[in-house]
Amino acid sequence: MHDFSFKRGKLYCENVSVASLAKKHGSPLYVYSHATLTSNFRQLDSALSPVDHLVCYSPKANSNLGVLRALANAGSGFDIVSGGELQRVIAAGGDPSKCIFAGVGKTEEEIELALKKSIYAFTAESEPEMVRINKIARRLKKKAPIAIRVNPNVDAKTHAKITTGTYENKFGIAFEEVEGVYKRAAKLKNLHLRGLQMHIGSQLTEVGPFEKAVKKVAPLAKRLAEKHGIEFFSIGGGLGIAYESALESGDAKWWRSPKRTNLLSPAKYAAKLVPLLTPLGLRILIEPGRFIAGNAGILVTRVEYVKQTGVKNFVIVDAAMNDLARPALYDSYHEIVPLTWKPGDHLKKNQISSDVVGPVCESGDYFCKNRPLPKVGEGDHLALLSAGAYGFVMASNYNTRANPAEVLVKGNQAEVVRKRQSLKQLWAGESVPKWLK
Ligand code: LLP
Repeated sequence: MHDFSFKRGKLYCENVSVASLAKKHGSPLYVYSHATLTSNFRQLDSALSPVDHLVCYSPKANSNLGVLRALANAGSGFDIVSGGELQRVIAAGGDPSKCIFAGVGKTEEEIELALKKSIYAFTAESEPEMVRINKIARRLKKKAPIAIRVNPNVDAKTHAKITTGTYENKFGIAFEEVEGVYKRAAKLKNLHLRGLQMHIGSQLTEVGPFEKAVKKVAPLAKRLAEKHGIEFFSIGGGLGIAYESALESGDAKWWRSPKRTNLLSPAKYAAKLVPLLTPLGLRILIEPGRFIAGNAGILVTRVEYVKQTGVKNFVIVDAAMNDLARPALYDSYHEIVPLTWKPGDHLKKNQISSDVVGPVCESGDYFCKNRPLPKVGEGDHLALLSAGAYGFVMASNYNTRANPAEVLVKGNQAEVVRKRQSLKQLWAGESVPKWLK
């Protein structure tokens, strides 16, 4: 579910018209809904209520301070992947003692920072990393809480670039080797073996792979609890969201169509997994990013030109692959709607097959190809939906394009939570060598 809807033909985020935001703050513009963020969080939190649990939001999906604060206020922990993310969480008012720290390449500085801030646990992804964490903890006269990331070798059946839980991937330690690794870790005096972690991939739309992985790993978690006294089992993130609605089916009520919400619901997820997890008696962690932030954000863009080539109708907009990289990177689908929905716009006869493209000088700079869209012209605005996760965070300055502003809406309040980057900021750290002057 989400809080973007059409009221009298105008797109609203909660009670604020998106067109009014574009007028005030310019374009391209990311817009987030506080109600959607927090209700997505609460749905997961309550689905897991039968077990002792902690939802650790993954800031990698959207790390804006406003977003992090909204989730910290709702009680969220955080699944961080860098020292930078830890600093962000702290800057946003998040609690380091609710943070777990994943990633295959943690540096000495990052480990030291996390130890000094007393995070809940590191998820170690290799033996050399464990040894490094132990060494730094000894130097700081601390015990480092760790979980080991197990690679369960279960296919998540998702896009190859976001699959993580098979032996083809760089993540974690092979299932068969994990117990041996815990045995050796137990001998490292400055480690506290606190948990076990896994994450099989992202944008999973079926519960099957989660169930398979939990079934495979739960007995291991139980044995580790008995032998080493671990207290938590993190089953990772990965819950998929709906990116497509029934717009193209010509359904006038497409926005509220069940097609948009019929994917993996927290209830379905919990119904299958909670019975497998309850008998463990462990604290269960999950690490959702996309599920919480994905449908809580849109990217608003302005039409600059419409160019008809005989073969194609190109709608050239002011956002590009540097602002939202997912279509160029993964060929991913983002629904595109005009901010004003005119009567009959949903009818095929009023739509025109279009390629929505950005101004960046690459053929890969497109948001959709040959998609039936209502007719739009110069100065109209479009919204790219489901852009709240892996949107702004993956933006770059390619083609010397400044990053968009971000706005957070709550009810009828809207606030800029990140200013549009100024062009000068882009080369602020650069200089011309003396010998070229
Ligand atoms: N935990 C770990 C260890 C992860 O690596 C990830 C995501 C998550 C949790 C959160 O996964 P989520 O609940 O968001 O699926 N840029 C790609 C997605 C990359 C996901 C990376 N890891 C995209 O735009 O689809």
